[in-house]
Amino acid sequence: MINPHGGHLVNRIVEVEEKKEWERKAKEMKKITVSYWDLSELENIATGLFSPLEGFMVKEDYDSVLDDMRLANGVVWTIPVVLSIPKEIAREIRVGDWVAIHGEDGKLYAVMKVGDKYERRKREEAKKVYRTEEDAHPGVAFLYSQGDVCLGGKIWLLSRVEHKNFIEYRFDPKDTRRIFQERGWKTVVAFQTRNPIHRAHEYLQKVALEIVDGLFINPLVGKTKKGDIPADVRMKTYEVIIEKYYPQERVFLGVFPVNMRYAGPREAVFHAICRKNYGCTHFIVGRDHAGVGNYYGTYEAQEIFDEFKPEEIEIVPLKFEHAFYCKKCQGMATKKTCPHPDEDHVYLSGTKVREMLSKGVMPPPEFTRPEVAKILMDYYMGRSYSEQVR
Ligand code: ADX
Repeated sequence: MINPHGGHLVNRIVEVEEKKEWERKAKEMKKITVSYWDLSELENIATGLFSPLEGFMVKEDYDSVLDDMRLANGVVWTIPVVLSIPKEIAREIRVGDWVAIHGEDGKLYAVMKVGDKYERRKREEAKKVYRTEEDAHPGVAFLYSQGDVCLGGKIWLLSRVEHKNFIEYRFDPKDTRRIFQERGWKTVVAFQTRNPIHRAHEYLQKVALEIVDGLFINPLVGKTKKGDIPADVRMKTYEVIIEKYYPQERVFLGVFPVNMRYAGPREAVFHAICRKNYGCTHFIVGRDHAGVGNYYGTYEAQEIFDEFKPEEIEIVPLKFEHAFYCKKCQGMATKKTCPHPDEDHVYLSGTKVREMLSKGVMPPPEFTRPEVAKILMDYYMGRSYSEQVR
């Protein structure tokens, strides 16, 4: 089985027997309250999904990730994973302190040994990670809304977030690794998505499945931007499509509990590394992966993989061109496999599809399976159009 990134699967979850003692100690520590976003990052570090990270990044790693797309020790890592808090609160905390991390619900979730305290250089981070400083970019806008000071250091997770949704689809990397092994899958391709499933997605997944043992469909259910379709609606589309059109024994559905950055190329590498931690050997990267608006070139998220030696990343990116249905070929295709002109291709923009669905018009089955269209139509017609594009 493929090794976790950096060599071993991180586990920062405190054992049950030690929990009481830590909770007692935490009472003496300085208390900080963090957002749901930070809690999810915390949990993802603790479960090993972000291996080899053992805590929030210290300055050395932060600088190195911005400049070099690597941690200070040279291991590839493209996205900052930091805990940034307001200046006024940071003033009270010194390097060497222990802090008790609470959620907005007042609950104690973790403790952290503060190994570093440093400025979050937001403009520079925006430019290097997102390739733009514009706050019209949702990832950049979120970055600008965060605190100015980062606390770095190892974490110890005392309590998991009590998730109310997708319970049956939540798996830690140790679970997926066991499950893939039990299923006898030596090679597994992961599919990242933040959208309902369309025919193009299905095509990519099935082409990939032709060359590997198993398919891990892994929709992102962390924070997404306004206007993206809610995760519960997207998951319904996956449930129905898997049941009707996929070989059950070769597909596994589990959620990806990670916040969306919309950082395009850099996020594609990050997405791949997390899937490697789940035990996947291959990762699908299609057109404008993790992109938003026109900030990234169509294939930049594929090209970035060429900046690393394959053994530095290990999980193999499966790069796909823009896929569509071709009326002449009478099947799904890409420019690599279809000789016909654009007029023969069924292409609908997201805006067009939304418009059709909210008026009760079915998009063509060559674009979306009717079972999926039905779920989306119920969603769009249940609420006003303006509400969804807020
Ligand atoms: S993403 O933000 O998660 O990348 P989305 O859910 O739309 O957005 O895409 C999931 C994956 O499918 C990404 O790898 C993306 O590049 C790929 N993809 C989506 N649509 C197409 C398409 N028509 N042709 C090729 N690849 C596509």
